[in-house]
Amino acid sequence: MAKFGKDVEWAASLLRSGKLVGIPTETVYGLAAHGLDEAAVAAIFEAKQRPHFDPLILHVPSASHAQHYVATWPKTAQTLADAFWPGPLTLVLPKKNTVPDLVTSAQPTVAIRVPNHPLTLQLLNLLDFPLAAPSANPFGYVSPTSAQHVLNQLENKIDYVLDGGPCEKGLESTIIDLSTPIPTLLRLGSIPINEIEKVIGPIQIKVNQNSNPSAPGMLDQHYSPYCKLIPFQPLNSLNAEQPTQQSDQYTPVLSDILQQFPAESIALLSYSSQDFQQFPLQWQSAIPHHFVLTNSHPDFAHAASNLFKTLRNFDEQQLKCVIFTWAPKENLGLAINDRLQRAAAKR
Ligand code: TXA
Ligand code: MG
Repeated sequence: MAKFGKDVEWAASLLRSGKLVGIPTETVYGLAAHGLDEAAVAAIFEAKQRPHFDPLILHVPSASHAQHYVATWPKTAQTLADAFWPGPLTLVLPKKNTVPDLVTSAQPTVAIRVPNHPLTLQLLNLLDFPLAAPSANPFGYVSPTSAQHVLNQLENKIDYVLDGGPCEKGLESTIIDLSTPIPTLLRLGSIPINEIEKVIGPIQIKVNQNSNPSAPGMLDQHYSPYCKLIPFQPLNSLNAEQPTQQSDQYTPVLSDILQQFPAESIALLSYSSQDFQQFPLQWQSAIPHHFVLTNSHPDFAHAASNLFKTLRNFDEQQLKCVIFTWAPKENLGLAINDRLQRAAAKR
């Protein structure tokens, strides 16, 4: 049975001998192994039941360490590293041969980042190899944002969890591919697009779908709790100026939902008490469970940090159906909507 604690030396010794360790990052917890040891990397795929077409991110303690594993280090990479590392940004670059094909799903590029968490930075500085680490959840389920989340599902498959407290950001890193002529956003994440563009100018957006071969592993259905998630309004009815505008024609019908699920197993999810008011009074009174991601005014950084914990909470409370509203289509709202959309996609 895995234990958890703050023993960085112990975590390092386990990793040196090819074992799996849960590690805290500012985004979500990772399931780490020696990134240059094929057998250790294979154990990650096995523990997560993750398909081999879904490549892993290498974690390193600094930008100069990152350069050991990539074949090119363009000026844009240095600019982004200076601006955002350590932090929730992953760069995709052509790989060196020392990086096992298993890590990159046999692609010629590798994804790499410097996470911003003191315990994990301390750990990475003790090691003379990078850590391959996907999010520490069974494949397809909601990413973990606490050590307890990791243990809840992977306790018997891993050797230790380094407990760094709750994750500050709560959404995965933003992924930028620098192997393309124009930098390409592959995954929306904790750093909004506009912040990246402030530093390197316009980027192209190719947010990953099943059919997108340049971003393997980004599935339409992902980050899913067992309970069913239903949007209260269509995503395309939102615009940045009037984020809560809704179009009646797509609004789910209360009586249909109450026919499908017992009322006590249904919940409403919104961002703040103010935002909750967009549910009609009839819905507010017919549905007994109400979740808000922030107590006060909509604060989307705070909402993002609570999102995955809240999705897990739905399953812990054995809810069957949650009706949610979309975040405004700007800044972090885009990444929140991306995760909600994938969580709500049909299995
Ligand atoms: O915040 C994060 O990035 C967290 C923490 C633990 O660092 N990690 C994480 O890893 O989210 P994971 O495995 O859940 O997602 C990694 C994704 C893959 O699914 C894939 O879409 C993309 O990164 N990726 C990895 N290598 C790639 C490559 N060579 N080319 C394109 N995309 C790649
Ligand atoms: Mg993941």
